[in-house]
Amino acid sequence: MRDDAVRVLEENWTGHSTVPSRSLYPHQWSWDSAFIAIGLRHLSAGRARTELESLMRAQWPDGRIPHIAFAPSVPRDAYFPGPDFWQARSADGTETSGIVQPPIHALAAWLTHQADPAGSAGFLERIYPRLVAWHEYLRERRTLGDGGLVAIVHPWESGMDNSPAWDLPLQRVTPAPAGSFTRRDTDHAAGADRPTDLDYGRYVQLAATYRDHGYDDRETPQAFVVEDPCFNALLISSEHALAEIAEELGHDPAPHRQYAAALTGALVERLFEDGIFRSRDVLTGDLIPADTVAGLIPLVVPGLAVADELLATALGPRFRLGETRLVPSYSLTAADFDPGRYWRGPSWFNTAWLIHRGLVHLDQTGYAQALRADFLGLAESTNYAEYIDPFTAAPHGARSFSWTAALAIDLEAAG
Ligand code: SER
Repeated sequence: MRDDAVRVLEENWTGHSTVPSRSLYPHQWSWDSAFIAIGLRHLSAGRARTELESLMRAQWPDGRIPHIAFAPSVPRDAYFPGPDFWQARSADGTETSGIVQPPIHALAAWLTHQADPAGSAGFLERIYPRLVAWHEYLRERRTLGDGGLVAIVHPWESGMDNSPAWDLPLQRVTPAPAGSFTRRDTDHAAGADRPTDLDYGRYVQLAATYRDHGYDDRETPQAFVVEDPCFNALLISSEHALAEIAEELGHDPAPHRQYAAALTGALVERLFEDGIFRSRDVLTGDLIPADTVAGLIPLVVPGLAVADELLATALGPRFRLGETRLVPSYSLTAADFDPGRYWRGPSWFNTAWLIHRGLVHLDQTGYAQALRADFLGLAESTNYAEYIDPFTAAPHGARSFSWTAALAIDLEAAG
């Protein structure tokens, strides 16, 4: 298994970073890179550090880490929306998108450091101020509701593009006309596995509006503003990691612990309902009644007061942890559950990795071991698929998908 996983990462390595998939995602993606570094650190801590530091070259002066850093060697129309659509650059001239993805980077940096503490002193010193600026961007520019949580302004920012939780808020968005852009994703993956054309039209319209307002969070009339439990849970996890990094570097860790504690309180107070975390539509103030795997990701949050209830939900009829393959992305009880379409039902390897991490921290050794075994078997048998059918284990989306391979290497090492 390990040889094949290593081969996937070798084939997808560009010299300084790893593409998620040579065909479907031929550039550098933000949260993909973080997950990839978590696996790479077992093969080469130096390469994991390079993966993360190359992503930092895409960071903007305002601190945001864009969700895509475009590779100049790739044809400009290989991926849509490409650099000509986003029209954005980082300080060093790297062409980028203008939206973000879940902030798991500080956790990845800390785990990378731990794999090779002796070799990574300079790395921590270089990356710490960048990660602080990234979190400050989120805190200062993206605390858009009144409860202290950070908000996303585009479904792609959740990493779970067509989550059923976005259906209601997206109804406010008039889609870009069908003929005004050309999708490239369906050249490389089955249309039935991917978001619909209607969803794509809305994604394009939201991104164009943000772009046309200079990606200014104060000026853009956002039609989509959502507090997502996965995004906030990963920010909390990463704030705890920043506290560890600060301590290691001789800085004061207290502000990171305080922010993590404040976010944890707000997460439970504002988003916990019916045994799960739900997203809040900031523009209406309402919780969105769609139970998705994002609502289980707070299992990774240290000291979560409602962890037992959340675990019961994972084990219950909505997700059937231990009875289905990995963890489905949407409640099995939902009428519109779809086992093959991207984030509307299929099980993903990165969310399974996060839930495994939560189970380990909760000392749920039996469930953690079973999930790990399921993960390792499926990663290999599906040729490192992007996502799978939770009932049949049939692979969907891309194969030779980098984070599937990287996280398999990490879980294997955890055995
Ligand atoms: N996940 C998106 C895509 O499918 C954008 O980041 O292209």
